[in-house]
Amino acid sequence: MSDLPRHVAIIMDGNGRWAQARELKRIEGHRAGADAVRRITTRARERGIESLTLFAFSTENWQRPKDEVRGLWGLLIDFLKSELTTLIKNQIGLRLIGDPGPIPALAQHQLNKVIKRTSGSTQMTLNLALNYGAKAELIHAFEQLKKNDQPIDEKNVERHLYTANQPPVDLLIRTGGEHRLSNFLLWQAAYAELYFVDTLWPDYSDADFDRALNDFRQRERRFGRTSAQLNNEVTP
Ligand code: IPE
Ligand code: IPE
Ligand code: MG
Repeated sequence: MSDLPRHVAIIMDGNGRWAQARELKRIEGHRAGADAVRRITTRARERGIESLTLFAFSTENWQRPKDEVRGLWGLLIDFLKSELTTLIKNQIGLRLIGDPGPIPALAQHQLNKVIKRTSGSTQMTLNLALNYGAKAELIHAFEQLKKNDQPIDEKNVERHLYTANQPPVDLLIRTGGEHRLSNFLLWQAAYAELYFVDTLWPDYSDADFDRALNDFRQRERRFGRTSAQLNNEVTP
């Protein structure tokens, strides 16, 4: 039995298919997805998760139709405006995981505001992965090390990741039925337990999240050792 995960990361997938199944526009799926973000953030906080990282927009997602991309940033702005007081009340600190440069100015402005206003929060870190790509993040880290003439070792690389000072990902959940990482947290999830579920993100419930946590607790995390070593058993 493992303890609860300290860091949970979620690839929130299936918004488009959720909308399509209801003959709605894809953006309505994203809107319903934002409600699921509220729900799961609250649950993670109740469960004592230290870091929750949500994949909301990848470096590859710019290739989607322009109106969908615009709609997504609009929803983010609405979300940030509506959640600020709840985040402060629940002592949740927001952080951005990703390259802010190409993010539309209004969204950046709201993000900076909420990040600043929640920076003293101590109970949970909510990392929003926006314009995030793991390969770009790693290249950025290596470039920083080269520039400062620092040795390339694990500690130094980690210091330059967006998740610096946070625990590694223990549990990585992907909703929506696909079994891939899509360029998400390749370094931080190197030893994560993977959990794939068919449920589309807008349908993902508190009970589904609890089920993933319970599944995690049944896993034996060996980190290269043997089961007998972990259980302090003497083996011939
Ligand atoms: C995930 O849902 C949300 C984002 C990538 C922004 P999708 O929009 O990828 O939903 P599907 O995969 O098309 O159903
Ligand atoms: C991954 O979902 C990115 C986010 C959840 C934000 P996608 O739906 O974009 O992933 P692929 O392209 O199907 O792998
Ligand atoms: Mg998808």
